[in-house]
Amino acid sequence: MKLSKELTTLTFVLLSLFCSAQNNKQQHFEPGAIWPDNNGVHINAHGGGLLEFEGTYYWYGEHKIEGKAGNQAKVGVHVYSSTDLYSWKDEGIALRVSNDPESPIVQGCIIERPKVIFNKKTGKFVMWFHHELKGMGYSAAKTGLAVADSPIGPFTYQHSVNPNAGRWPMNFTAEQKQMRFPEDLKSWSEEWLAAVADGLFVHRDLEKGQMARDMTLFVDDDGKAYHIHASEENLTLHIAELNEEYTDFSGRYVAVLPAGHNEAPAIFKKDGKYYLIASGCTGWAPNAARSFVADSIWGPWKSLGNPCRGTSVQQQTTFDSQSTFIFENPHNPGEFIFMADRWSPENAIDGRYIWLPIMFENDKPVIHWQEKWQLK
Ligand code: GAL
Repeated sequence: MKLSKELTTLTFVLLSLFCSAQNNKQQHFEPGAIWPDNNGVHINAHGGGLLEFEGTYYWYGEHKIEGKAGNQAKVGVHVYSSTDLYSWKDEGIALRVSNDPESPIVQGCIIERPKVIFNKKTGKFVMWFHHELKGMGYSAAKTGLAVADSPIGPFTYQHSVNPNAGRWPMNFTAEQKQMRFPEDLKSWSEEWLAAVADGLFVHRDLEKGQMARDMTLFVDDDGKAYHIHASEENLTLHIAELNEEYTDFSGRYVAVLPAGHNEAPAIFKKDGKYYLIASGCTGWAPNAARSFVADSIWGPWKSLGNPCRGTSVQQQTTFDSQSTFIFENPHNPGEFIFMADRWSPENAIDGRYIWLPIMFENDKPVIHWQEKWQLK
């Protein structure tokens, strides 16, 4: 008798928990709001990116903790899963930082903007992320590699590199490769900017490999994957092909928009054209986004201006956010969704997510603010 009463109570508790979880199921996007996961906890996946695999979406991002300390990697890369893109299930830590002080990914290093792609040939999930060594600020400018057999990990850290050591960008002329630069150029002077555009930093870093900070990954229709990163002291983006397994650089890359000072790259392909949305370089503070188009991933990339529409503040601050990734609307192929971060550097864990649809006006990608919206 007692047991059955307890069972009834337990069933009731479980049922109410289930119902409240169902009621909590989010059915819309609300840019900038707290976005609760299946446990009612604000999603912790900053600087993130999505992977669609067998009908499920996986959202990977930086796990942040409270306070300023949260800007360093104290935990690792968090992963969530969803089938509707609105409600996300916490799948735990996909890549965990190490306790071993000898490990490059020791707790307290910097792991930013993780992105994951699936390699059909090897059946592996391949993660690349911006990696800075502990205690060295942003000077290492490396990209880290981790691999897993399952989309939720655990990912095994492989190593971090400065890409394309010993390789010239494919779009460098013979003249650029031969150039010698004066050593006393004043930073930000016209001469210095011209030298940067001519490859000052590519020359400097040729032997040890190029810098790679803000990054994203892109898999083209032919299965080739590209690692796109802010290089050359954040002055020039590099678009670099990965090998067939996606675990190394093939050595083929281009320097894009030289001395354009673009970071936070996000890319998509629509009707055979490649579109790139990036930010300027003002750290955690927001700035105006820029958009570009090209007929080939190798460029040339043509500027299409600021994609944001709305008040001048919204345009100048990208709705108080910075690009991180772009994905295709599964309900409406050909339509793309812009993902951005509203950073909260003083209390990193409180960073918010800005997801907005990308429309096309006069053949240009444009983004309008929406308080609350749904996929059509
Ligand atoms: C931003 C960058 C972020 C982070 C931050 C640190 O420019 O996009 O990912 O690196 O700087 O200040």
